[in-house]
This record gives sequence, C-alpha cells and structure tokens, in this order.
Amino acid sequence: MKDNKNNIHPVFDKILNRPDKEKLLKQHSRVIWLTGLSGSGKTTIGRHIEMELNKRGYLTQVLDGDNIRTGINSNLGFSETDRHENIRRIAEVSKLFMNCGIICINSFISPTREMRHMAMKIIGKENFIEVYINAPLEVCESRDVKGLYQKARRGEIKNFTGIDAPFEPPLNPDIELKTDELTVEESAKKALDYILPIIIYKST
Ligand code: ADX
Repeated sequence: MKDNKNNIHPVFDKILNRPDKEKLLKQHSRVIWLTGLSGSGKTTIGRHIEMELNKRGYLTQVLDGDNIRTGINSNLGFSETDRHENIRRIAEVSKLFMNCGIICINSFISPTREMRHMAMKIIGKENFIEVYINAPLEVCESRDVKGLYQKARRGEIKNFTGIDAPFEPPLNPDIELKTDELTVEESAKKALDYILPIIIYKST
C-alpha cells in the first residue's frame, strides 16, 4: 500500500484568507457581542443593527437563542457549566464567520465577566466589540415579553438570570445602550456610529 501522504495535495496557496475575503466583501469583519438581561432588548437591537448594516451593503450573520439554542446548542440548559459551554461554542462559531469576512452580531445574556472574557479571548480582543444592553431588572421584568420572569418568581424556572442566577454588568463595554431611555432606533444609531467607521473597507 502506498503511503497516504502521497495523495495529499496541499492547496493552502489557493485558499482565500480573511483579508482576501474582506476585500471580496468590501468590509472589515468583527464580532459584535450584545450582553444583557433577558428582556433588555438584545435581540431586537441586534436585528435592527443587522438591518441597518444590510441596507448599507454589509454582509452579516445574527446569532441568538433562536438559531443557536434550538440547533447547535439544543443539548444545553442554564446551569453555569452549560451557559459556559453555550458561550464557548458561540464564540467559536462567530470566529468562523468572522474569518469568512462576515460581521457577526451575537445576542446572548452571557451573564458573567468570565464567560465574556473567554469569548473575547477566543475571538481576539481586536475583533470583539462588547455592547452592554442595559435595562434595569425592574424594567425587563415589567416587559416580561416571554412571561419567564413571572415563572421564575413563582419558582417554576430555576437559575433565572437576575432572579436566582447572577448577571455581572460589563465594567468597560465598548458601547452601552440604556434601552429604558432610548428608542430602538436611537440605540441602533448609537451602536452604528461606533461600528461603521471600524467595518468600512480600507484597502491597505
Ligand atoms: S446564556 O446565559 O447562556 O447566555 P442565552 O442568551 O443563550 O443565555 O439564553 C437566554 C434566553 O433563554 C432568555 O432570553 C430566555 O428566553 C431563555 N431562558 C430559559 N431559561 C432561562 C434561565 N434560567 N435564565 C435565563 N434565560 C432563560
């Protein structure tokens, strides 16, 4: 039998790397990481940012509970260990999108500084834009869009962030959006004012 090595033909010189793909897409890729309590507005603002970027011709990918916790992370719950694994996988997936030149917009509670730090380390500090979606617990609870706060208060859901599981606010986020003071449009605009100069394509 011939050595398999003889049948391997490296093609790395023909594979596009991240700068090539960014050039192709005429954008610089980043991971925009939205963190905050359930009901703070992460998904709404994330989708609004995506829409505004798409209007300007930028290619994006949104990751949130809808497409991650029902798919790749459907085997994970809300223990500290599972949330950690949830965030680790999301960070790895985001990195794949980013290396493909795509701007990745992530909306996850990502409740502890340690988890967000891990995500930042995987993605790279220079690629990671941390956005704190800041709404007081009382506001999120009064919105209770999914009725989950009520269930958590009744003890029907355990380890609910803000009730019987911690949320540690970022100490130094790149962007902070107080969604109880700003409209969705105002929040998205504030985020875009920060993001657009970074992703606009600069040929070097
Ligand atoms: S994270 O903590 O691991 O980052 P993630 O953002 O994926 O959480 O999921 C949060 C969403 O799951 C919430 O918006 C809510 O709809 C739902 N959820 C179900 N159980 C819990 C819980 N115990 N704590 C927080 N969110 C929960």
